[in-house]
Amino acid sequence: MIGTQPVTLITQNSQMRDILKRIDKIANSDTSVLLVGETGVGKEIFADYIHRISNRSLKSLVKIGLSALPPDLMASELFGYEKGSFTSAASSKKGLFELADSGSMFLDDIDDVPLEIQAKLLRVLESRELMRIGGMVNIPVNIRLISASKVNLNDLVEKNMFRSDLLYRINVITIEIPPLRERLDDLPLLVNYFIQRYAPKRMLKITDEALTYLLNYHWPGNVRELRNVVQRAVIFADKKITPEEIPANIKLNNPIEQIVKACSVCFSGNGMKFTEVINCLEYKLIQDALHKSGGNQSNAAKKLNLSLSTFRDKMKKFETYSPNCKNVVAENR
Ligand SMILES: Nc1ncnc2c1ncn2[C@@H]1O[C@H](COP(=O)(O)OP(=O)(O)OP(=O)(O)O)[C@@H](O)[C@H]1O
Ligand SMILES: [Mg+2]
Repeated sequence: MIGTQPVTLITQNSQMRDILKRIDKIANSDTSVLLVGETGVGKEIFADYIHRISNRSLKSLVKIGLSALPPDLMASELFGYEKGSFTSAASSKKGLFELADSGSMFLDDIDDVPLEIQAKLLRVLESRELMRIGGMVNIPVNIRLISASKVNLNDLVEKNMFRSDLLYRINVITIEIPPLRERLDDLPLLVNYFIQRYAPKRMLKITDEALTYLLNYHWPGNVRELRNVVQRAVIFADKKITPEEIPANIKLNNPIEQIVKACSVCFSGNGMKFTEVINCLEYKLIQDALHKSGGNQSNAAKKLNLSLSTFRDKMKKFETYSPNCKNVVAENR
């Protein structure tokens, strides 16, 4: 698919702004860029942005999603083929690398590329020329490569699922796009942007209560999931988007409500006393803070806004404690 749609990259988050500044600096060089981030964080929109501000912007940005393509098809899509090179090759066909010549190439889901295609990709990137399947001549390719991965490719290299020499080629610059839950200051901005996009004439607003639900959710599907929620909400909303238009799974995800719900299991199912449940919560907060601080007590105390001495007192209190919690039992099963 050749991308022609205008892109609007919405953000006010300082980490994202820093990323954009970095991109502005490298946009006009031909360095390969690897975009890493969870699903829906905006990797493709970043690829569009990089191409649009580069000096290749008048040429094509050619995109290919590499997940779910069988290796043979992947190779013929990428490198093209000559007439008669396989049974159904009735005529010769240019591959996407050739179509991207003088422009940019976006390899999406590069983490899903099988090793045999990785070897072919490496050859093209190293020699800057390719040979079509069944071809005899080398065809020069002049492209700016942008790749995207949902996972850290170093981990795949360690598991021998990704070639380290290919990784060096594609990640001259690596850009890690933070998940939405780590940049919640972008959320209200994105909500208003999507409201405008899906209901441009309605002057629709969102209530604080509804927005709070969205801010408390952990957004595993990131901006795409938020977009879908807003798109659906504007259809059902009257004058304002209220909690009624927020899907139940998002409202349930309110962390305080979840804790209350989880603890109620211990009250009703386990007959635990109020103080026991509170102790259990206290114990878990302390364990969690210690875990996240790698066992460092002063850092763990800081996380909980406790003085080190109070924190140590609490650790002492829980030295021999083991929570009688139904949820823990369920977790350990
Ligand atoms: N900062 C942003 N501003 C505006 N829209 C955004 C932003 N980030 C993501 N989107 C929108 O969210 C949707 C998902 O973004 P995109 O396709 O770029 O994510 P992705 O990281 O490529 O996801 P996947 O890994 O699933 O392919 C798109 O509709 C995109 O336009
Ligand atoms: Mg994508």
